[in-house]
Amino acid sequence: MTVIKINAITVPAESGDELAQRFAARAGAVDGQEGFEGFELLKPADERTQWLVLTRWRDEESFQAWVSSPAFAEGHRSAAERAGGDAPKPVSTHSEIWNYEVAGGSTPA
Ligand code: HEM
Repeated sequence: MTVIKINAITVPAESGDELAQRFAARAGAVDGQEGFEGFELLKPADERTQWLVLTRWRDEESFQAWVSSPAFAEGHRSAAERAGGDAPKPVSTHSEIWNYEVAGGSTPA
């Protein structure tokens, strides 16, 4: 059964564009991970400062395997580091993981 793992990242409003750019230049290492079913980067459209990285996985084991894999580390190296440079300062001030499973829903008929 699909599990949903959300990384809720608090980013000051003035750093939001930088976070979006980091994701635009992401490594893409997660894309081929066994059990990975996709993710969305969700930008706050109100006064909130929590961006959500909503990821979907085939099961809990698939998510745990990714978190402890080299692909996770690679996916969290900035483009600057991958090009041999220094790590940029983090744009987030806080992050937390939210665990969800689908309990109901609908798609258009
Ligand atoms: C320690 C807390 C974390 C922070 C602050 C963080 C932040 C970031 C940032 C800034 C990027 C863009 C790449 C970069 O420049 O580094 C990224 C990539 C990503 N993050 Fe996180 N992240 C964290 C942990 C997690 C966790 C636990 C998940 C899953 C729920 C997750 C999901 C993703 C995904 C799917 C990508 C794209 C990876 C790829 O392209 O291979 N992150 N994260």
